[in-house]
Amino acid sequence: MAQEDVFRKLVAHCKEYGYVFPSSEIYDGLSAVYDYGQYGVELKNNIRKYWWDSMVLLNDNIVGIDSAIFMHPSVWKASGHVDAFNDPLIDNRDSKKRYRADMLIEEHVLKMEEKVAREVEKARERFGTAFDEKKFRETNQCVLATQSKIDDLNRRLAKAMNETDLAELRQIIIDNEIVCPVSGSRNWTDVRQFNLMFSTEMGSTLEGSSRIYLRPETAQGIFVNFHNVQKTGRMKIPFGIAQVGKAFRNEIVARQFIFRMREFEQMEMQFFVRPGTELDWFRHWKDIRMRWHTALGFGEANYRFHDHTKLAHYANAATDIEYRFPFGFREVEGIHSRTDYDLKQHQQYSGKKMQYFDPEKGESYIPFVVETSIGLDRMFLQVIAAAYTEEELRKEDGSADMRILLRLPACLAPVKLAVMPLVKKDGLPEIAEKIVHTLRFDFNCQYDDKDSIGRRYRRQDAIGTPYCITIDHQTVEDDTVTIRYRDSMEQERVNIRSLKDIISEKVSIGALLKKL
Ligand code: GAP
Repeated sequence: MAQEDVFRKLVAHCKEYGYVFPSSEIYDGLSAVYDYGQYGVELKNNIRKYWWDSMVLLNDNIVGIDSAIFMHPSVWKASGHVDAFNDPLIDNRDSKKRYRADMLIEEHVLKMEEKVAREVEKARERFGTAFDEKKFRETNQCVLATQSKIDDLNRRLAKAMNETDLAELRQIIIDNEIVCPVSGSRNWTDVRQFNLMFSTEMGSTLEGSSRIYLRPETAQGIFVNFHNVQKTGRMKIPFGIAQVGKAFRNEIVARQFIFRMREFEQMEMQFFVRPGTELDWFRHWKDIRMRWHTALGFGEANYRFHDHTKLAHYANAATDIEYRFPFGFREVEGIHSRTDYDLKQHQQYSGKKMQYFDPEKGESYIPFVVETSIGLDRMFLQVIAAAYTEEELRKEDGSADMRILLRLPACLAPVKLAVMPLVKKDGLPEIAEKIVHTLRFDFNCQYDDKDSIGRRYRRQDAIGTPYCITIDHQTVEDDTVTIRYRDSMEQERVNIRSLKDIISEKVSIGALLKKL
């Protein structure tokens, strides 16, 4: 099945099974804004907890905060967001559609890369096991010509973005005959800068009100609290401050479901270090964060680092952790060595010292910062995209049946256990209810007695419930139940008393944290 079809089905599945709904859907929705349903919110809470505990519980020198969304307007002047948090936009005069100029070019590059990949695959099929991909890429004229165009284009794009050269961005689009995906025309406007911050007024009267911004990242709430936390927590460098919270960006092109939203949540950690040690810490956090991702068991080959060659003016190293989504490898998390830029800027704009006295060195300095920054919603999409599975099952009569399941890691699954009486009589519902009432203190359990047992299993598979317990007539005799495993569909008979131990071990986030 084409990957776009998989993605389309995944989005429909999220809606059908109470994971994600379009915001204000009865009014036809609001572009790039989404609500989480009854299962979505549980999955989101579990991902958040996995992140939070891995930072704050596992590290003696990392503490958490929860800063306000509204901040003093000068924060955003100091951080550079008022002047430079812009995307270059371009309109197509025929379709009236608006695009990010750099993205139009990147998508063009992607198409050329796909062309190269197709050539490579064709050759692989032709030559079989004797195929040497490296040699083929280095010698095939068609591949070499396309690759050279890709390299030129990437160089031109990086330079234009670095120098904020809007005319050059437009020229790249014209030179490469990039057309509007909707109208198919090349009738482009000039490229203009567009600031991504949402703003509103604070104060009740026009004269007394001031323009404030909805934060576009949570990190600044950490920077401005650096001294508060360091002093009250008597923190010694190196130390980190973690935060999870909403961020807002008026994205020009908001697409791919919850991949790029206008209101989203970030999980960020700023790690304050001695100047000169930041690149060691950058490597350290790269390793730690990659391990956090791969511990979920979605396959190491589906992740990669994308080291930035073009660095923001305040960074001396940066990388993205990318995951292979159905629409290709894309960023899930950024790890940035941000030097002392932010604290220095806040020192300058606020007039307050942002220095730290290092007792071991006997001197004061502005700490350097290594940041790890991951979107909670994007991580949600990554998890659910990795978990979504369509499985063909052979029935006894030889016909095929389709099973849709979410292979969620048990510790992230919204419902851990569904408890089902085989029939709604003979005392079976009462036993099932008693099990739910006992186990609900330990994990999220669901009582389910509607439809046939087969349909109930399928419903729980679609939600991603790792364990189903069935109460049958034998239960009345000997206190045993069947436990059915979502992924293998195997069943085993166990005593009711052992349920808590069997399930707790597998669904605890603690067990996952121990793998890190
Ligand atoms: N403080 C650094 C920072 O905000 P970023 O690369 O702009 O860096 C970090 O964002 C992460 O936040 C991204 O890797 C992504 O997971 C998430 N993110 C950014 N913009 C987003 C959006 N519009 N919708 C959903 N997630 C977003």
